[in-house]
Amino acid sequence: MLGRVNHVAIAVPDLAAATESYRSMLGANVTEPQALPEHGVTVVFVTLPNTKVELLEPLGEASPIAAFLAKNPAGGMHHICYEVTDIVAARDRLKDAGARVLGDGMPKIGAHGKPVLFLHPKDFQGTLIELEEV
Ligand code: CO
Repeated sequence: MLGRVNHVAIAVPDLAAATESYRSMLGANVTEPQALPEHGVTVVFVTLPNTKVELLEPLGEASPIAAFLAKNPAGGMHHICYEVTDIVAARDRLKDAGARVLGDGMPKIGAHGKPVLFLHPKDFQGTLIELEEV
């Protein structure tokens, strides 16, 4: 069911500072910031030969990463995103297997303009999983 790792996401308290660290110290290519109000985050992507790293900063009062940053004030790994070819089929299979899909269970459009869903970290070894249809 799973394809490539689309990206690993890191929640950061200061997106500009994180972008600068990746650019100046790691010599990485980093995209321009993209505000995603529906997801409560602003994101940039570090583009790598084999995958991407998503840096996430809270956007708005009800950001879903605010609590994570309260617990991890310096930032930290937030989720891993796996590619799937049919997100609704993947969701139905996971629900049948007892996994919890976050929110209302309907795919939302993610940072790449593709449908995404999130799976409860308690069902996957303490790691929040994002599925993206490609
Ligand atoms: Co993501």
